[in-house]
Amino acid sequence: MDFYFYDDIAYSFRNIKKEVDFLEKIFKKYSDVKVKKILDVGCGTGEHAIELVKRGYKVCAIDIDKDAIKYLSSKFRHKNLETKVLDATKIDRLNKKFDAAISLGFVFSYLVNFEKQLEHLVKISKILKKGSIYVLELPTAKGFLIKSTLLDEWEEEKNGIKVKVEYKTRKINWLNFIVESDYILKANSKTFRRKEIFRILSLEEIKAITAATKKFKIIKFIGSFKNVKLENANEIIAILKRV
Ligand SMILES: C[S@@+](CC[C@H](N)C(=O)[O-])C[C@H]1O[C@@H](n2cnc3c(N)ncnc32)[C@H](O)[C@@H]1O
Repeated sequence: MDFYFYDDIAYSFRNIKKEVDFLEKIFKKYSDVKVKKILDVGCGTGEHAIELVKRGYKVCAIDIDKDAIKYLSSKFRHKNLETKVLDATKIDRLNKKFDAAISLGFVFSYLVNFEKQLEHLVKISKILKKGSIYVLELPTAKGFLIKSTLLDEWEEEKNGIKVKVEYKTRKINWLNFIVESDYILKANSKTFRRKEIFRILSLEEIKAITAATKKFKIIKFIGSFKNVKLENANEIIAILKRV
């Protein structure tokens, strides 16, 4: 079994149905267009994409990692799910129009500099309909800079398969708030190790990047899928509208 099979188990504690309920509420409340066709940027194992397809949406799920796309295509096939290996900074290559986009699990933060983030937003603006919504999930300083040595440690079990995760910080660049983390997953006597690099953005920076595109405006920031107070959130949900 490959990394993504076990990664799926490691994150099985998430309530994907509830998160997708939340997304649907956001679409209903803020989108000017009826949402039928959704783009999932950095879909990973595709849990949100699958749930959206099950609810009747057409979804195009992209990821830069071909193994993630391969795993998703092997576990779920449906006429309304299109998958593609694609870099978020080249997203306009899709050459189609979408009614909404999501990028959950910090995908935007993996684009570690302002130029790449701007490039992504400008390119995604070309394939999003006017009045549509882009929902991004981003890490906060409280969640990922302050708790700086061991971010998290947990165990999950599904269908008799146990996985153990250690998620540590390797290094922090305190000048630019770039976090280098180590994701160590142990299962079935195998160890998988992934280094991740992401940048923490302040709300002011997100506002500045959004304004620089001239194609999006910020509608709202929400304190994670749990809707906690923004200053207490480990992740924030940024809702952008294509103008
Ligand atoms: C933490 S996972 C989140 C997966 C999924 N969205 C979720 O919430 O379960 C981040 C994903 O972003 C993808 N990714 C990172 N940089 C990317 C880029 N430049 N373009 C597209 N995908 C990217 C990774 O390969 C990984 O699958």
